[in-house]
Amino acid sequence: MTDQELVERAFAMHAYSYVPYSGFPVGAALLCTDGTVFTGCNVENAAYGSTICAERTALLKAISEGHRGDWLTIAIAGRGEDFCWPCGSCRQMLYEFAPGLRILAARGDGQFQSVLLEELLPHGFGPSSLKK
Ligand code: THU
Repeated sequence: MTDQELVERAFAMHAYSYVPYSGFPVGAALLCTDGTVFTGCNVENAAYGSTICAERTALLKAISEGHRGDWLTIAIAGRGEDFCWPCGSCRQMLYEFAPGLRILAARGDGQFQSVLLEELLPHGFGPSSLKK
């Protein structure tokens, strides 16, 4: 699976986004080492704080299907002018399972940038931080 193909899988998830409040669909596609891809979309809620982002939808699908510790890359696709960088909560949730994860952040025109999660969340707090 190429980066371009993974980004396209993320964009395809806009069809399922539930975004009556923001009108801003986001899609995500998480690639594992065996080639499995877990996709996700944002799902909003009338109680705004209960909204879940596309990345966390994909993350929870992967974890709940037994895929942990084998993540390579996550593509995140928005429709804005700027690249769709993951929010703080998503960075933290991803860091828990894959601090070395590669992130492809795409914008509305289909262009995307590749960064490492450690660049977006330097000195993150993770499982090893709890060691006494
Ligand atoms: N959103 C995501 O799905 N992922 C992000 O990392 C940024 C924000 C969603 C949440 C909400 O449904 C909409 O984008 C506007 O904030």
